[in-house]
Amino acid sequence: MKFPFIYLTLSLIISSGVCTKFTDGQYESAPHIIVFMVDDLGWNDVSYHGSSQIFTPNIDALAYNGIILNRHYTLPSCTPTRAAFLSGKYPIRMGMQGEGIMGGEPRGLPLNVRILPEHLRDLGYSPKLIGKWHLGFHTKQHTPLHRGFDHFLGFYNSHIAYYDYKYSQGNMSGFDLHRGDSPAYDIHDQYATDLFTEEAVRVIEHHDPINPLYLQLSHLGVHAPLEVPVDSAYLEDFAHIREPNRRNYALMVSRLDESLGRVVAALGDKNMLKNSIIIFMTDNGAPTIGKYRNSGSNWPLRGTKYTLYEGGVRGVAAVWSPRLHAMARVSNNLMHVTDWLPTLYSAAGGNVADLGEIDGVDHWPHLSQGKDIPRESLLLNIDEVSKTEGAIKRRFKLVRGAYKRGYYDQYYGESGRNHDTQSYNYTLVHSSVVSSAISAHLGDPMTQPSAMTHLREQATVLCKRKSTFSYCNETECLFDIVNDPCEATNIAKQYPKVVSELDMILEKYGSLLVKQPRLPIDGMADPRRRNNTWAPWLDYGMITGLYGYNYNAAAAVSTLAVCVHIGMALLIVSMSAFI
Ligand SMILES: *[C@@H]1O[C@H](CO)[C@@H](O)[C@H](O)[C@H]1NC(C)=O
Ligand SMILES: *[C@@H]1O[C@H](CO)[C@@H](O)[C@H](O)[C@H]1NC(C)=O
Ligand SMILES: *[C@@H]1O[C@H](CO)[C@@H](O)[C@H](O)[C@H]1NC(C)=O
Ligand SMILES: *[C@@H]1O[C@H](CO)[C@@H](O)[C@H](O)[C@H]1NC(C)=O
Repeated sequence: MKFPFIYLTLSLIISSGVCTKFTDGQYESAPHIIVFMVDDLGWNDVSYHGSSQIFTPNIDALAYNGIILNRHYTLPSCTPTRAAFLSGKYPIRMGMQGEGIMGGEPRGLPLNVRILPEHLRDLGYSPKLIGKWHLGFHTKQHTPLHRGFDHFLGFYNSHIAYYDYKYSQGNMSGFDLHRGDSPAYDIHDQYATDLFTEEAVRVIEHHDPINPLYLQLSHLGVHAPLEVPVDSAYLEDFAHIREPNRRNYALMVSRLDESLGRVVAALGDKNMLKNSIIIFMTDNGAPTIGKYRNSGSNWPLRGTKYTLYEGGVRGVAAVWSPRLHAMARVSNNLMHVTDWLPTLYSAAGGNVADLGEIDGVDHWPHLSQGKDIPRESLLLNIDEVSKTEGAIKRRFKLVRGAYKRGYYDQYYGESGRNHDTQSYNYTLVHSSVVSSAISAHLGDPMTQPSAMTHLREQATVLCKRKSTFSYCNETECLFDIVNDPCEATNIAKQYPKVVSELDMILEKYGSLLVKQPRLPIDGMADPRRRNNTWAPWLDYGMITGLYGYNYNAAAAVSTLAVCVHIGMALLIVSMSAFI
């Protein structure tokens, strides 16, 4: 009987050590962090950015009550953005700057990189991932449960079909839905957006609010294929959209909006909302053309997913939390997706210096206390394969090269403009689930139409319509993205000094670039070998060292864990001998 008692005492001492680490002024416990990441959503696909075509009342309500991050930059596609988000590093440091990982490609986020869930674990969090991973699964060690998450329901590849959860690569095709390390064969016929929403709600319902929660809901929506929920109740809501694919896309976006409402309501029901930080963000702009186009719209921004134009990398984003310094505003501060690691770690009470060499900067002192703006420049990317590169400093952006010879560099998605007579419906925002949850748990939400109009105007990008624009696939381009957010006029010749300043950023990071591995697809990954299921196919021990990765860091961490365990066991044995 004494043995468990001592163990309990010890764990209390240890966990109180973890808890007392948290020192954020008036709050006595670390916040719950909910990352609501959506896939391939365009700039113009939320109604707070100016188009009333697709109503997103829950997303709008969250954004209006929080901070609209209107200059939030991502990488131009899924794998690089997710690598940057979780590691706090520019993907060029890890060879992750290029194309998304294809099914059967024996490649993943290097194992020596410590990522967000691992860091948050140190602060007492129990991190959960629902939905997309897309950072490699050739060995089990590369998958979510082995990288710091203690819960996973989702898929490994870039996308799956919304109802049968299948992914195809060339002539290989298979099921890709997993719970933990095992295929989730028991799940059938549920629309993926709803499936992941329900799992998120379940996680929240079963969470003990005493412990801080990290929940990353990485939705499949609105990645291609264009598959609408069969039970869609909103068909008549989008009758005003004449283009059928755009209308279907609107139904898919609507399900995401509803999902956000359900997650926020679940946090409210558990009384966790007043201690939460919620981030809403897309991983990159919409692919308006190309194989995986989804009928999204980045209008009026230039370019699409895969490009370094604003349409590819200026991603929809907002943050909400009662802990924010000033809410109901639009921020035009430069923010990069790598900044979330230090920002969230800081919000959770951690010391950012523990994070080692990262590129992200901590925005928490600014967001929570109004301190100085931490960032004035950023690297967009350097891709040595597609030969594109870009960087931003203050209001200037330098872009060189073109993805696929400039085919993606034009203005697309005009169908996302509000051509119709549909006007913005304030009542829908006011009566949204998110507004109701905020008003029930925190007092009056921001719902005056005049204030909403003001925020919406500030968040909307307007461009003077120009009939011509500069081609950057033949020459380098410098844009003033504050005064010319649609990147029409190349001013490189007028500002040679600015070009050379931006060039210095590119040179600095160019010298740190780790080349992309570019490994061929491995036939051994064929799902036919594994009950028609995508799953790890290589043995970790066998490939160690094969791709030149450094596993020492990971090994050191596990050695430390083993030492701690042995130490604890010895302590317990010796103490129980005395009693
Ligand atoms: C699948 O395609 C690859 C090349 O793309 C080929 O080598 C392989 O034989 C094909 N397998 C089957 C079963 O058709
Ligand atoms: C540059 O891109 C445009 C389309 O945006 C294309 O018409 C042109 O051929 C491209 N030039 C080169 C050199 O690839
Ligand atoms: C706004 O939406 C509500 C609920 O669907 C509807 O009853 C109302 O008529 C709409 N208002 C406007 C101005 O369209
Ligand atoms: C193989 O997959 C089917 C579903 O496609 C599943 O019902 C069955 O249990 C799986 N078999 C094994 C051995 O896992």
